[in-house]
Amino acid sequence: MGALELTDLYLQRVEVDGDIPGNSYVSRLPVVRSMVESGGLDLSRPVTIFIGENGVGKSTLVEAIAIRMGFNPEGGTVNFNFATRESHSPLHDYLRVIKGCRWRKDGFFLRAESFYNVASNIDDLGVVGNYGQVSLHAQSHGESFMALVENRFWGKGLYILDEPEAALSPMRVMTLMRHMGRLVDDESQFIVSTHSPMIMAFPGADVIQIDEEGLSHVDYRDTGHYQVMRRFLEDPERMLGYLFE
Ligand SMILES: Nc1ncnc2c1ncn2[C@@H]1O[C@H](COP(=O)(O)OP(=O)(O)OP(=O)(O)O)[C@@H](O)[C@H]1O
Ligand SMILES: [Mg+2]
Repeated sequence: MGALELTDLYLQRVEVDGDIPGNSYVSRLPVVRSMVESGGLDLSRPVTIFIGENGVGKSTLVEAIAIRMGFNPEGGTVNFNFATRESHSPLHDYLRVIKGCRWRKDGFFLRAESFYNVASNIDDLGVVGNYGQVSLHAQSHGESFMALVENRFWGKGLYILDEPEAALSPMRVMTLMRHMGRLVDDESQFIVSTHSPMIMAFPGADVIQIDEEGLSHVDYRDTGHYQVMRRFLEDPERMLGYLFE
């Protein structure tokens, strides 16, 4: 057991093919334009965290990565193949993933938006035993999410999480981070999109900010998310004064 070395990462590099039709919205996304210009993105740590304003393309990117790595577009393990809607973007058709040679034992793609459908599929498949015995539908959103992480993330895997904080209280966000630490120590890799300043602070994570300028590696303390949250919590009355004056 231990953290993956750089050369052992399950996902090592992501490239976007420049031939995306110009009339497709994905060709205009900052994250896509930046990758076309730079040639691609090398992943360098067991935990990669994408951050950026609403609409910059984080979900579009992690979804396309997940599809390319063999996951169902709506989430789940590589064995899930249900579809409740055709909502995924065409980006995966233009995305190339460079995989490591190491054998991957486990994996999960989790998107806050379609967690309900993943829970239904687990019930339908009759595999609830893998998820802590209680149907995920019989638990709250946050409880079911934690049950999934605690029972079904088995290690030596690739975990792709889109806004995992959506269901969680701040205490549970820290519990999630502890699980991430345990799984990283057991040869796992995480690709995460988040707005949570707590998750961004995950030790040793590569935090990649997406904005109009493209992709940049940042310290979480320099991000707008962290600074806005810090300023608000330091002096809520002052911030509320600005908002409602
Ligand atoms: N089918 C579509 N047609 C046109 N534009 C779309 C379509 N689907 C998504 N978009 C646009 O793509 C952009 C990127 O969306 P995406 O969901 O990837 O953003 P995000 O960075 O994950 O945002 P958030 O932080 O709100 O989750 C958005 O501006 C969205 O409006
Ligand atoms: Mg999103």
